[in-house]
Amino acid sequence: MTSPSPSPILKTSHLLGIEGLSAPEVTGLLDLGESYVAQSRAANKKAALLKGRTLINLFFEASTRTQSSFELAGKRLGADVLNMSVKTSSVSKGETLIDTASTLNAMRPDILVVRHQDSGAAELLSRKLDCSVINAGDGAHEHPTQALLDALTIRRRTGRIEGLTVAICGDILHSRVARSNIRLLAMLGARVRLIAPRTLLPCEAERFGVDIFTDMKQGLAGVDIVMMLRLQLERMSGAFVPSTREYFRFYGLDREKLSCAKSGALVMHPGPMNRGVEIASDIADDLDVSLISEQVEMGVAIRMAVLDALARGLS
Ligand code: NCD
Repeated sequence: MTSPSPSPILKTSHLLGIEGLSAPEVTGLLDLGESYVAQSRAANKKAALLKGRTLINLFFEASTRTQSSFELAGKRLGADVLNMSVKTSSVSKGETLIDTASTLNAMRPDILVVRHQDSGAAELLSRKLDCSVINAGDGAHEHPTQALLDALTIRRRTGRIEGLTVAICGDILHSRVARSNIRLLAMLGARVRLIAPRTLLPCEAERFGVDIFTDMKQGLAGVDIVMMLRLQLERMSGAFVPSTREYFRFYGLDREKLSCAKSGALVMHPGPMNRGVEIASDIADDLDVSLISEQVEMGVAIRMAVLDALARGLS
């Protein structure tokens, strides 16, 4: 007797952003991610779900966590995984993307995971290729699996997302993590605050349906979760902050500022983090408040869930 095929979670064959997903799709991925935490903690981490499938990781930007966790997720589900790193400096963007797309298409991958410095790159590839495309970060646009893993981390620790107040702090302007998180957290009923200097807030921030603060202590008052962002110097042309020392004084998370948040508030950071720039080392390493390692662990589980969900639609 053959086992019944699992029910679909996603309506589309790509994961390009949190925008376009529904709350049941997001919750479905979180629930599935939960089931993969146990598999990743077991001695035998392998399953045969993606046996015979090919996953290509195509990263035009540097990555530690995202690329390695997609690689592990693919391997734990039995897929063949190919990592392709493309040096940003030598590529002429539009042309190379299209060329790369047709080259990869000819290799017949089933799933392509792409990170690119331009917003919309993943969507463009999804229209050119025959396989499923996952956005692993496109410019300052979206990074859906980061928001999903953050939500899974929060939900496991607090038991819910709805009704929480989450402060996203720092370089919002250049952050795809912030944009995906704002969408996802609002969709699941959290209240979102943005805390940043004016220079690091996008001008359209008012339209995000969030509360905006330029004073960190005021912004942190009573929040349940403090999500710190890296100062993304590589995306800045010109000076957005006077100096990193000055930035830490006003926007770096230290004990004094954290004491303004709700007692027991939890701290997150997508990594890579700059200690002493956006976050004090002792907070990052304090396992009672910091969820940073847990975020990395949930990264593998949620990426297994996304691969599983997309594989259900593969022919
Ligand atoms: C983030 C990214 O690449 O957008 N990193 C990540 O995926 N964990 C955040 C960052 O680079 O600061």
